[in-house]
Amino acid sequence: MNQEPFTASDSYEPSGPVTPTGRTALVVFAHHRPDSLTAAVAARAAARLEEAGYRVDLLDLHAEGFDPRNSEADEPDYGNRDKVYSDEVHAHIRRVHAAELIVPVFPVWWYGLPALLKGWIDRVWNYGLAYGRSKSPMAGKRMLWLALAGLTDGEQNADLVFGLLDGPLRRGISEYCGIFDVHTAALFDSEAQDLSGAARERHYRELFAEADAVVDKLLAG
Ligand SMILES: Cc1cc2nc3c(=O)[nH]c(=O)nc-3n(C[C@H](O)[C@H](O)[C@H](O)COP(=O)(O)O)c2cc1C
Repeated sequence: MNQEPFTASDSYEPSGPVTPTGRTALVVFAHHRPDSLTAAVAARAAARLEEAGYRVDLLDLHAEGFDPRNSEADEPDYGNRDKVYSDEVHAHIRRVHAAELIVPVFPVWWYGLPALLKGWIDRVWNYGLAYGRSKSPMAGKRMLWLALAGLTDGEQNADLVFGLLDGPLRRGISEYCGIFDVHTAALFDSEAQDLSGAARERHYRELFAEADAVVDKLLAG
């Protein structure tokens, strides 16, 4: 991405009420089925954060009808970091700015983010809103990227899942936007295709326990 040189006076002025009382966690998930494992893991993470005292903003991108398609209105203009983007983008970035913790929960699709979540990053984490200022509007936030992957962690190509978490997500998005306390985790074998009965149930209990553990690590961080 091209950026202009930063200037000391360059800071982002929030355009709305972005500082609710208490600490907020934004749990954002991308799945078309409310009964998906992704939705269940997101709900569980949200409940755990709430128990820990956070106000949780649970953003279900599909249910809320977020449009992942970009348009001219939301294209960055590198000559104007104060560009006014679409109302939808400003409404979403206010929710991001309001959060101290940001937890995207998503299935790995073709070793990347589902288009819905990718479009949310593309449009909402925009120039001047999430990056491109001398004082990052995201500074001080903490993140957990929580992926669900169909592969087992011993399978060939599992390294591509770890690569996604550590490359494009941690470094390419979070750190690029000034978020340096970044946790990542993948829940592997999310479809449990070779398991049935009690073994399958045990596997899902273990996946939920893993999800709990990474949320706890984020909270402890
Ligand atoms: C379009 C599509 C692409 C997928 N690509 C991958 C992949 O690249 N790597 C992987 O481990 N699993 C892949 N999977 C499996 C999903 O990660 C798995 O179905 C999901 O984690 C299960 O959670 P859910 O029940 O919430 O959908 C893919 C599934 C779909 C539907």
